[in-house]
Amino acid sequence: MQPLANDTFLRALARQPTDYTPLWLMRQAGRYLPEYNASRKKAGSFLALAKNPAFATEVTLQPLDRFPLDAAILFSDILTVPDAMGLGLYFAEGEGPRFERPLRDETSIRALAAPDPGGELRYVTDAVREIRKALAGRVPLIGFSGSPYTLACYMIEGGGSDDFRALKSMLYSRPDLLHHILEVNARAVASYLNAQIEAGAQAVMIFDTWGGNLTTSGYETFSLAYSRRVIAGLVREHEGRRVPCILFTKGGGHWLEAMAASGCDALGIDWSTDLGKARTRVGAQVALQGNLDPGVLFAPEQAIRSEVRRVLDAFGPGPGHVFNLGHGISQFTAPESVAVLANEVHTYSTKLRQTRAA
Ligand code: CP3
Repeated sequence: MQPLANDTFLRALARQPTDYTPLWLMRQAGRYLPEYNASRKKAGSFLALAKNPAFATEVTLQPLDRFPLDAAILFSDILTVPDAMGLGLYFAEGEGPRFERPLRDETSIRALAAPDPGGELRYVTDAVREIRKALAGRVPLIGFSGSPYTLACYMIEGGGSDDFRALKSMLYSRPDLLHHILEVNARAVASYLNAQIEAGAQAVMIFDTWGGNLTTSGYETFSLAYSRRVIAGLVREHEGRRVPCILFTKGGGHWLEAMAASGCDALGIDWSTDLGKARTRVGAQVALQGNLDPGVLFAPEQAIRSEVRRVLDAFGPGPGHVFNLGHGISQFTAPESVAVLANEVHTYSTKLRQTRAA
């Protein structure tokens, strides 16, 4: 394997000094890019893109060819795991993801099994290998999965939801069933992430998009306890280098201390938490990734530049920051705004280090 030409992302996750603050964006490959929409049209659908390693490689590299990003993220989706469990993922036009067979009765819940990552999910590890080859050491590749809890939300609801009625009713009336689903999911996610690592993912991220819909005690019991099991089961070194794990809970600002003690290397922070305060709370335990409000990208150039500076200033001096958005980039973002963001992150963070050193 080629050595990495740019390892600032991995160095920042290890809380080592870097010449500037590394940057990548959640959902960096996607519909805000005209070249993505062209590839999607060629493939026929989002799932056809994600399930074909050549297409997945093509769209993974698209944002890197446009912007000076410091990491690539595998083009896939968190819902590939429940799809491989037989729930039947589909996308209804304009409605987001749905499952044909959501988990609603005890029989189907008891029959749930963790998929073999070498079987139904083989297209994912094939894509990881092909992307690594295409990257040729340019930047590290991030693999990812949904958290056991966030996957359970989709599996029980059968799609996204405003109130998570089916999930909450199971949580409070049959917690044993929810625990069973979470236990299977934790095993599935750990083996899925390990398969990505063995195939060449150089860091992994756990997306707990819906953990923030829980109470504080519910978060510990139904989300964090199972993410912790996943993290404990991960391969932590590959190709002679540590494979760091980033844990992101959207709406998890209240629980950063507990998240930092989960065994992960870094926390993803959404835009509602001040990065400086987050840093004071977690200390030297973990690196931080975030947390520009994705809505800033709808504003003119000067506002983007000043909000980027605000995030970098909030983190403050010293290593351990990976710049990102606080959640995924919107499909209505102008690509030119992302170019402005990338330029400001790199130039301002370089300048800050030089003035501090002087
Ligand atoms: O970051 C990246 O560029 C890698 C690719 C990636 C996708 N989904 C591609 C995608 C990643 C990391 C995800 C994660 C994901 N998927 C999450 C967790 C992150 C988060 O946003 O909190 C969640 C909740 C999902 C589930 C999902 N998949 C939703 C809700 C949707 C529909 C919303 C939307 O943006 O359309 C998807 C589809 C999806 N996943 C798209 C992409 C590029 C859009 C599909 C299309 O082309 O129509």
